[in-house]
Amino acid sequence: MAQAFFDHPYLSGHHQPVRFEATAPDLIVEGEIPDDLVGVFYRNGPEPLYPTREGEYHWFDGDGMVYAFHIEGGRASMINRWVRTEKFELEKAAGHRLFGMFGNPMTADPSVAGKRYNTANTNIIVHGGKLLALMEGAPAVELDPHTLETLGEEHYGGIITTTFSAHPKVDHKTGELINLGAGINGPMGAPQIRYDVIDAAGKVRKTELIDMPHNALMHTFFLTENWVVFPVIPIDADLGRFMKGGPMTAWVNKRPTKFAVMPREGLASDVRWFDYEPRHMFHELNVWEQDGKIIADVAAANGTALFPDETGVKQTHGDTQQSLRRWTIDPSGEGTWFKEETLNDRDIQFPRPDDRFVTRASRHSFANINLNSRDGRAEGMDAVLRFDTVSGKEDYYHFGKGTSCGELIFAPRIGATDEGDGYAMTLVHRAGAATSELAIFAALDIAAGPLATIHVPFRVPSGFHCNFYAADSMLYRQALGEGRA
Ligand SMILES: [Fe+2]
Repeated sequence: MAQAFFDHPYLSGHHQPVRFEATAPDLIVEGEIPDDLVGVFYRNGPEPLYPTREGEYHWFDGDGMVYAFHIEGGRASMINRWVRTEKFELEKAAGHRLFGMFGNPMTADPSVAGKRYNTANTNIIVHGGKLLALMEGAPAVELDPHTLETLGEEHYGGIITTTFSAHPKVDHKTGELINLGAGINGPMGAPQIRYDVIDAAGKVRKTELIDMPHNALMHTFFLTENWVVFPVIPIDADLGRFMKGGPMTAWVNKRPTKFAVMPREGLASDVRWFDYEPRHMFHELNVWEQDGKIIADVAAANGTALFPDETGVKQTHGDTQQSLRRWTIDPSGEGTWFKEETLNDRDIQFPRPDDRFVTRASRHSFANINLNSRDGRAEGMDAVLRFDTVSGKEDYYHFGKGTSCGELIFAPRIGATDEGDGYAMTLVHRAGAATSELAIFAALDIAAGPLATIHVPFRVPSGFHCNFYAADSMLYRQALGEGRA
C-alpha cells in the first residue's frame, strides 16, 4: 500500500499528483479545432509514484509522466503513461521510494547503490525517428511515439551513456540534434561536459569533452549556425558540501556566470572563456548570429528561488523574478564582449520560439506568464503571452486568477513556413477544477482567446516542457508517419 503524500506546495493544488494512466478517445471540444492543425502534442512532467524518503520534495524530483494528444480532422484523443525507467520499476516493485532526492546516495536505500537516478521527467522530443523522454542527469529514454510504451535508455551505440540534455537543439536546416551532457562525471567527479552532434538519422557524428571550472547545473546552452555557448551559472550540486551539513544543490553567492564559447564544429581546445555577473538562466527563447555577434534572448534573473544559497538561505520568487533579456555576445572577445538588455519584464520562465527558426533570427516569443500570483511556479502562471521582440508589442490572454497555464508553444499550420503561421497551445488548469483543458489559439492573435478548448476529463498536474509535431514535418514523418508501427 502506497504511503500518503505529505503537505507541500509542489504536491498540492495544480501540482497534486494524480498517479494514474489513462487512454481517453475523442475528447470533448469546445469551439473548433482548425482542419490544418494536425499532429501530436507531447508534454512531460513530474508525477511522483511515491513520497520521498526525506519528507521533503522538490518539483524536479517526480517520476516522468508523458502525455500525448493526437489531433486530426478536428478531433483529439489523449493518452498518458509513466516513463518506466529502472528507478521507476525498482521503486514500484518495492512499493516505496528507494532513491534519495536528486539521486543523493547519502539518503538512498542501500539496495540502489550504484543504480542510475533517471526520472526522465523534463522534456519530450522527437529526433532520429525516436520519441525521447529527457532529464539532464541521465541518458535519454526512448518511448513508442504512439503508445508511449517505454523502450529503454538510448545510448547511441554506446557513445552516450552518462548525461543527456533536457534541452538539446534540433537544427531544422540540417536535421541535426545538438546535445550537451552536463556533469558527466557526477557531482564528486572531475568537472567536465560533453558536446554531441547527432545527425538526422540519429547517429553521433561528433563528440567533444570540455573541461569546466566547477560542476554546475547546466540546464541549457546556446546554438547558432556557427557557434555553441555553454553558460556556467552559479548553481552547483556538491556532495562534499552536503556531507558537511550544507545543501546538496545551491546558488553560490557572488560566483560569476562563466561562458564557454566554441565554434560549432570546433574542438575543446578552441573554447574561449568569458565572465559576467551572477545570473540565473535555465531557458532561452532563441539564439542566432547578427553582424558577427551572438544574440541570445533568454529568461534570466539575478538570483533564484529554486535552490538555497550555500548557507541554506532561500530567496523568494518575488525577489528573483525572471524577465526576458537580450544577451549580445561578441565571440571575438574584443571591446564589450557582453551586453544585457531587458526586452520584457513580465514573470517569464519558459519562452518559446517557432522552433523551426532555432539558430535563425526570430521575433515571436510564446510564454506562460504570471499576472496575479505571488509565486508563479508554486501558485501557477495565469496568462499566456506572445511578445514581439521587434515591435515590443504584447499580445496576451488572461485565463483568470488562480488558473495555472503550462508552457505556451507554437504549432505550425500544415503547409505553412512563415514564422508564426499557425497556432499556439497550452495545458490549463482552473483553480479548484477536477479537469484540465488544452487551449488552442491563433498564434498571432492570442488576445482573441482560444479558438478551441479540448477538455481533459481529469486534472493534469502542472509539468515542464511540451512540443508539437505537425504531421507534415520531417520529425513527425520519421517517428510517427507511414512505415512506422
Ligand atoms: Fe527546462
